[in-house]
Amino acid sequence: MDLDLTDRVYIVTGGARGLGRATADVLVAEGAKVVLSGRTEETLATARGDSVEAVVADNADPETPRRLIAAAQARWGRLDGALISVGGPPTGTVASTTDDQWTAAFQSVFLGAVRLGREIGAALPTGGSIAFVLSSSVRAPLPNLTISNGLRPGLAMVAKTMADELGPAGVRVNGLLPGRIGTERVEELDASTGDADAAREAAARTIPLGRYGDPDEFGRVAAFLLSPASSFVSGSMLPVDGGMLRAL
Ligand SMILES: NC(=O)c1ccc[n+]([C@@H]2O[C@H](COP(=O)([O-])OP(=O)(O)OC[C@H]3O[C@@H](n4cnc5c(N)ncnc54)[C@H](OP(=O)(O)O)[C@@H]3O)[C@@H](O)[C@H]2O)c1
Repeated sequence: MDLDLTDRVYIVTGGARGLGRATADVLVAEGAKVVLSGRTEETLATARGDSVEAVVADNADPETPRRLIAAAQARWGRLDGALISVGGPPTGTVASTTDDQWTAAFQSVFLGAVRLGREIGAALPTGGSIAFVLSSSVRAPLPNLTISNGLRPGLAMVAKTMADELGPAGVRVNGLLPGRIGTERVEELDASTGDADAAREAAARTIPLGRYGDPDEFGRVAAFLLSPASSFVSGSMLPVDGGMLRAL
């Protein structure tokens, strides 16, 4: 199957590492151009190249959507879609999570994503595609990840609403629900338990495929959702979790 990505241009936020970077790598391998963002120059520096424009930009900054769209237009003169990813929120129970943690996470994880989706959605032509990186917490709560459990389901419904609003313009909007993919974020979550190996083994036992996903396995699904190959998929939440989610 041809993903028809040659010379298409995508914004990938939170793309210096992890799921964003893995998706950008697949997009570029398939012939696309990428505007990649992250918060620090050091982590982005290695990504720069013929097919990658790297922009230091925080998803929480209201100026970020305008700057990323402008970067795509300035370098390649077109924009076909975006993967909206960001660093995960802090861990914690409902009882231990403070107002300041909720407020900071709302700005970067929730409002930042909504704002990016809104501004990029308005800039996309017919055939454009937006994919939000969400979490299995859209459908089932994760232990000790209160903020994720609180914010992701709401974002999923915003994405669904955007699919309604942008569908008539021929723009698709979907969400990706990673389960446990082996990125730095998941390494940190495992380490935060005090016994990373035990945490990883216990988590792997809850996954029917018996292992963590590889970032590239996520990137290939994300690239498909962004590409014209998925031209009739919109308003969907797609788990990439090795069968982990107990909800359909
Ligand atoms: N990996 C999984 O299995 C999994 C499962 C469920 C949900 N998720 C969610 O998926 C998202 C991506 O996860 P990941 O595993 O790729 O995380 P990661 O390995 O920590 O990578 C996050 C990326 O986002 C960038 N970033 C962080 N905060 C940012 C901000 N405010 N603005 C712009 N860029 C920012 C980071 O670069 P800088 O630090 O340089 O900015 C980094 O490139 C997270 O929201 C996570 O909660 C992941």
